[in-house]
Amino acid sequence: MAKTALKPLSNKRVLLGISAGIAAYKGPDLVRKLTELGAEVEVILTRNADQFVAPLALQAVSGRPVHNYAMTAESESGMGHIDLARWADIVLIAPATANVIARLCQGNADELLTTVCVATQAPVAIAPAMNQQMWQNPATIENLATLAKRNTLILGPDSGEQACGEVGPGRMLQPTDIAARVGASFSTGSLSGKNVMITAGPTWEAIDPVRGITNHSSGLMGYALAQAAVEAGATVTLVSGPTNLPPPERVKCVNIISALDMRQAVFNDIDSQDIFIGVAAVADYRPIDSADQKIKKNADEMVIKMTKNPDILAEVACHTNRPFCVGFAAETNDVVDYARGKLERKKLDMIAANRVGIADGGFGSQNNAITLITKEAVIELPKQNKFALARNLISNISEHLPE
Ligand code: PMT
Repeated sequence: MAKTALKPLSNKRVLLGISAGIAAYKGPDLVRKLTELGAEVEVILTRNADQFVAPLALQAVSGRPVHNYAMTAESESGMGHIDLARWADIVLIAPATANVIARLCQGNADELLTTVCVATQAPVAIAPAMNQQMWQNPATIENLATLAKRNTLILGPDSGEQACGEVGPGRMLQPTDIAARVGASFSTGSLSGKNVMITAGPTWEAIDPVRGITNHSSGLMGYALAQAAVEAGATVTLVSGPTNLPPPERVKCVNIISALDMRQAVFNDIDSQDIFIGVAAVADYRPIDSADQKIKKNADEMVIKMTKNPDILAEVACHTNRPFCVGFAAETNDVVDYARGKLERKKLDMIAANRVGIADGGFGSQNNAITLITKEAVIELPKQNKFALARNLISNISEHLPE
């Protein structure tokens, strides 16, 4: 697989709501600017927005069908309002008219876009666009203050000549600026100044030069965490077993093959780390003897004698001046109990327990759901794509760091 650098919106899903204002004609350009920064974009038009922008143009640039305002049996049978609400990493409304701002403020769920806004856990950003008198109307001012209090990200507006011929505040920001601000909104700074080391992927324990013992870890969970940690402002070292993934931008990636290599790479740099996250599915055993030459298949049976690999995470947790240690526990049953056992045995600060062996979660899948366990708390992070989950996890880690 070609390894391409990640961009500010790589692996981010932007749900773009376009409401019925003249600036809606910039919608296709905005979709393009968002996708150029790496985002996947789904578009919802509010009632009458299609008077200002052609749905077909939006479909062409986003590469996806465009949703209109209606919540019909047909539209709900596809990607319905709850699916869209869960899909989004951020909901961006641009342009946001005075009317849509008022409806957001009231929590109205009177058409698809406003309903998604009520149903989503994702952050909401708006790029207001309206006549300057409407912008300065006390109702609009109060509505914006309410949305700001609810952590809605308010982008702009710009000031200048308006479509109606008046001059003043209320012009929508340019698509390039909106896209850049949406990209920057994922940079939280919650780990700024911290050094974070993450292990990811499987290890490969050689039997001979062409055969080995490994597992189904794709590396995605660990790479997603590395990206989220960089966005949180950390300096990140990713110690990775063999995967097909491109390393996130601004991450120092150390590629290793076996558990012993991984241990070596971890301890080469552990003293400078503030946080260690063991996501790798490290092989518990390795063949005692790895043959120098390819083993011939002369015998009907073959016995491979194995020896235990060092437990890298447990060793890091016992290290002098140890970093804050986070483990992962992949379990098929009694997930929380087993994970809590590992938390205590390995002397960890936090463990992320995930159920494996089910469809669409754990090894090799795009999604995952975890239960985060510390000595004091149990926090459920429900099923979501691994990038969203990683951001959630990094935010939880930053909240649990010692002062
Ligand atoms: O890579 P993906 O396809 O995205 O899948 C992600 C994942 C399922 C691999 C990941 O979410 C996960 O659960 N990783 C831990 C899997 C595991 O092997 O767990 P464990 O119960 O064997 O180990 C517990 C912890 O100790 C882990 O943090 C592991 O990294 C660490 N460990 C284990 C053995 C060992 N010799 N050294 C270790 O450091």
